Amino acid sequence: MCGIIGIIGDKPVTQRLLGGLKRLEYRGYDSAGIAVIETDATGAKLSRRRAEGKIHNLEERLKQSPVDGILGIAHTRWATHGQANETNAHPHFAGRVAVVHNGIIENFMALRAELQEKREFVTQTDTEVVAHLIDDAMKSGLSAQEAFTKTLKRLEGAFAICVIIDGIDEHLFVARRGSPLAIGIGEGENFVGSDAIALNTLSNDIIYLEEGDWAVLKTDNIQIFNADDKPVTRETVRVSGSMAAAEKGNYRHFMLKEINEQAETVSHTLTHYVDAFHMRVKSPEQLQVPELDFSAVQRLSLMACGTAFYAASVAKYWFEQLAKLPVDLDIASELRYRQPVLAKDTLALAVSQSGETADTLAALRHCQKLGLKTAALINVSTSTMARIVDFSLPLNAGPEIGVASTKAFTSQLTALLALAISAGVQRGHISPKAEHELVTALTQVPRQITQALALEPQIEELALELSKSRNAFYLGRGVHYPLAMEGALKLKEISYIQAEGYAAGELKHGPIALIEEGIPVIGIAPLDALFDKTISNLEEVATRGAKILLITDAQGAKKAENLKGERLICPPTHLHTAPIIYAIPIQLLAYHTAIHLGTDVDQPRNLAKSVTVE
Ligand code: M6R
Repeated sequence: MCGIIGIIGDKPVTQRLLGGLKRLEYRGYDSAGIAVIETDATGAKLSRRRAEGKIHNLEERLKQSPVDGILGIAHTRWATHGQANETNAHPHFAGRVAVVHNGIIENFMALRAELQEKREFVTQTDTEVVAHLIDDAMKSGLSAQEAFTKTLKRLEGAFAICVIIDGIDEHLFVARRGSPLAIGIGEGENFVGSDAIALNTLSNDIIYLEEGDWAVLKTDNIQIFNADDKPVTRETVRVSGSMAAAEKGNYRHFMLKEINEQAETVSHTLTHYVDAFHMRVKSPEQLQVPELDFSAVQRLSLMACGTAFYAASVAKYWFEQLAKLPVDLDIASELRYRQPVLAKDTLALAVSQSGETADTLAALRHCQKLGLKTAALINVSTSTMARIVDFSLPLNAGPEIGVASTKAFTSQLTALLALAISAGVQRGHISPKAEHELVTALTQVPRQITQALALEPQIEELALELSKSRNAFYLGRGVHYPLAMEGALKLKEISYIQAEGYAAGELKHGPIALIEEGIPVIGIAPLDALFDKTISNLEEVATRGAKILLITDAQGAKKAENLKGERLICPPTHLHTAPIIYAIPIQLLAYHTAIHLGTDVDQPRNLAKSVTVE
């Protein structure tokens, strides 16, 4: 995650941009920068100051070399493409154009190659190409607004962008696709920021741009357009000064906000684990765990609880298939009582959002007593687990407040797949070509998440039917079997519907006795090698009266056209990344079912966010 802020007004902006950057520093602090249209005796010109490291370095730079204006943009960076140095710091310039950006431009290499002959690129970032595309389009005779919208149509990925242009000091252009962007309404001036926290003290009247929106901010008006370039009106929300309220934004619940953040949070996780410039996984040295050597490990012992356990369960398939590394998988609360035989060349890897779950901590400590090396994949970097293990691996999904885990799950899957690829590379089972293909698939996940989020209106309707049942089944095979269990867990914990997740082929060995007229059965089945088998199992329950909802892709829907029931169509995905994208509809289905039932979504009964007792 990076942080963005912009101001267009009639008063100097630099100090206020700096204030916004300080509030955004939690989103990243590799480098920071500011660009303004500066007016002096010689006229107006685009100027910038940038500094490596935290915001106070930029503040010092500005003290030594002040710059100010009435239109400006600023950025605090969490490096994705290119090292964290001053050259790669935002804003990026090309000709008359300055850009700040949060997210990943997936097709930047292709766009860069296209412009390479006529344009000089000075950074390794994906962002610089945006500035060049806009400047190039203006040079070809388009107006600034036409150049901006033409450029947006060329970009693939999940991003938020702000642009200012030399010579056009009455416009600030902004766009949102995948990454959030909030507009603050002022008097005689307007603001834009990554979230309402950035705009705190500047404005309490906030417009949250919706997916695909772009806007032109002037001092006295704001024009917003949707992805089809049609003018639209978006609701203005009055936020209190309180950070907590601002953090929930205009979402009704933290859970819904966290579900919607996932294109961005997964990007953030990806940034840590993959080098998207070269389409490779990062080396242990780059991950700052130089001694994490999967080629020296004979066995992996995965341990976790709840949702984290289901992420680990998916990872068992990945480590075994991609790295040929045998995996033991334990519910953490069971591990030490099972008294597993664990040889010294086993790596113990715990997965935990909080890093404080008592059962997972106990399992890790048990492994430490047996003399094993330990690692933990955790979201809270200051947690106990982070401190006690040999290798602390961050999730970087940001604070998760909703008790039902959502964004931590997709980040866990993302990091675990990257680690499985890394293990495959280190153990000689993944060629450079295969690594390139797998990492490319990973970098496409944020965009596919955004596409899956667009299923929400349809899911809301399907959830109404589901909310009328007291029982439900989720079925899946292969990596989608743990996902079926996660879908059932989500339903149980927030809607209180008794739901079971089963391996589709196992149902006929007993639980099929529970199938009766009208019981909802949700099948998770993208078109893969196991598709036909899952569909046969769904047919078995459909003939016994079950109401089927099939979550699949367009090709799967076509192939299973004779299966009775409803469909949810996810975007096409790579075989190995599919569980990350298919997590989105199951989360939304649980959320909207709970809303129809009127439960307390963020704080469901009997639960706690972090379970610190055995
Ligand atoms: O913080 P952790 O990931 O260790 O927590 C593990 C479980 O307690 C947690 O995933 C729980 O199952 C969630 N409520 C699931 O939504």
